[in-house]
Amino acid sequence: MSPTEPRRLTGIRELQCWADAERAARRRIALVPTMGALHEGHLALVHAAGAWADRVVVSVFVNPTQFGPDEDFERYPRDLERDCELLGEAGADLVFAPTVDEIYPPGDVTRVEVQRLSRGLCGASRPGHFLGVTTVVARLLLAAKPHVAVFGMKDYQQLAVIRRMERDLHFGVEIVGVPIVREPDGIAMSSRNTYLSPVERRQARALYAGLCEARARFESGERRAGALIEAVRLRVGKEPLAEIDYIELCATDDLEPVESVEGQALLALAVRFGETRLIDNLILEEG
Ligand code: PAJ
Repeated sequence: MSPTEPRRLTGIRELQCWADAERAARRRIALVPTMGALHEGHLALVHAAGAWADRVVVSVFVNPTQFGPDEDFERYPRDLERDCELLGEAGADLVFAPTVDEIYPPGDVTRVEVQRLSRGLCGASRPGHFLGVTTVVARLLLAAKPHVAVFGMKDYQQLAVIRRMERDLHFGVEIVGVPIVREPDGIAMSSRNTYLSPVERRQARALYAGLCEARARFESGERRAGALIEAVRLRVGKEPLAEIDYIELCATDDLEPVESVEGQALLALAVRFGETRLIDNLILEEG
């Protein structure tokens, strides 16, 4: 273990005791939940967390309940040793890497559901996904007892759903959103990008390129959902391997579809390349 490597814990009780001691010493705790296979996008969250708190906990847990039966739970990339090295360099203090049984004790039947916001966008083609996300994030918040929890805006719907869960259940945790980290060619960093063939990888640039075309139209005065969505559709539609799942314009808080941008709105899309589903989004803001 290198001298910078963070401490590792696997037990919820141990983590709670650690958190109680930190809180008793009046130190602020930030939690960054991840599923590992870390890249610069995750590390940006760790850096942001450091600015909000004295201690940064990163959880690394591939959460089975958020994967559908035909999804990639088994083949999801896992490399805890490399993740811990990267987290040490990024300044994390503690890595929480529990087993599935630790998070879901045998016989467990409890779930946390955020209605409405979980239904549209990615929720429509991934039934049960957000139920798994909110269930695990609730448990991670109760285990790490953070003052702040940090999430990426790449998964904007996830961020909005968790904000609402925190509010509705009075967790007393500040939920912080961090902007999307992109590759030099614009594609949003994602652990799933590694599934793409070289041809798919090249065509996947169309997601962000499409969003940028819509933003250019927005900046020249276009406000109508139909026209903004069409700009994205035209660009993505040029790629023969791209299958559009959705392109939508919606409100940034409750994610309800909107007819036009008034103030601000979220332009979000999901596109499949074979088995791989990619997402991206942009906030359009007036003024
Ligand atoms: P995971 O996909 O590992 O992502 C962990 C966090 O990193 C999420 O908050 C995600 O939005 C953020 N992230 C991923 N790629 C990013 C990028 N390119 N730029 C900015 N942030 C990025 O999201 C999950 O795990 C899980 O659903 C989890 C919340 C851990 C619950 O299991």
